[in-house]
Amino acid sequence: MNNEKNILIKIENLKKVYTGANPLTVLNNINLNVYTDEILAITGESGSGKTTLLNLIGGIDNITSGHISIDDKKIENMNENNLATFRNKSVGYVFQFHNLLGEFSAIENVMIPSLMLKYDKIEAYKKSEYLLEAVGLKDRINHRIGELSGGEAQRVAIARALINNPLVILADEPTGNLDKKNASVVQEILWEMTKKIKSTLIVVTHSRVIAEASDRKFKLESGETLSEY
Ligand SMILES: Nc1ncnc2c1ncn2[C@@H]1O[C@H](COP(=O)(O)OP(=O)(O)OP(=O)(O)O)[C@@H](O)[C@H]1O
Ligand SMILES: [Mg+2]
Repeated sequence: MNNEKNILIKIENLKKVYTGANPLTVLNNINLNVYTDEILAITGESGSGKTTLLNLIGGIDNITSGHISIDDKKIENMNENNLATFRNKSVGYVFQFHNLLGEFSAIENVMIPSLMLKYDKIEAYKKSEYLLEAVGLKDRINHRIGELSGGEAQRVAIARALINNPLVILADEPTGNLDKKNASVVQEILWEMTKKIKSTLIVVTHSRVIAEASDRKFKLESGETLSEY
């Protein structure tokens, strides 16, 4: 047995400046190693840069300077094509506001990331059906997102994030808009599915319960320090 921890994500001297009329440095000199298969929580005050950090890790936004590598591949070196494939194939993103397509059904929303990679439609359907069942929505698969409750929509978002068996799941306040009971259901599903597909989870959260349930927890302060606590 090899007990050494594998580093899946390496963040070095990361800096993010939002440019525009009022340039704003949101992240500065951030360093972090994320281990394979771990569940890592990031907490911090509103505006400290947590969503910005997740967006950079997920290749959704551009790094100003510094490095992020995932599975030894540097995100900042990927061209648009590679980046699009990386986002679809390797990253499962659960957004702060669920970001599902309201006019489409639950199962259509879950299938989309798989269809974007041109995977077989029938396979994508079966897998989506399985995932929706796993998150407790077997009898809601044909409901449009607009016909679901907030907690149900959040569970669809989790199923969608998992469809391509991502290397890493990035979850931004996945329980932020839910009551205690639904928050606990969503958290359990996220934990269980992460383990099942042997993925690595980075979860941004204000919830102490979620932070405590994680393998490691970090606090981001003013985009300047990221410290384990
Ligand atoms: N696209 C943008 N352009 C300019 N400034 C931005 C942009 N996005 C975010 N910011 C600013 O960057 C800072 C960090 O934002 P971010 O969304 O990363 O915070 P957060 O830690 O996720 O906060 P919350 O807990 O409220 O979600 C904020 O002060 C915000 O106003
Ligand atoms: Mg945020």
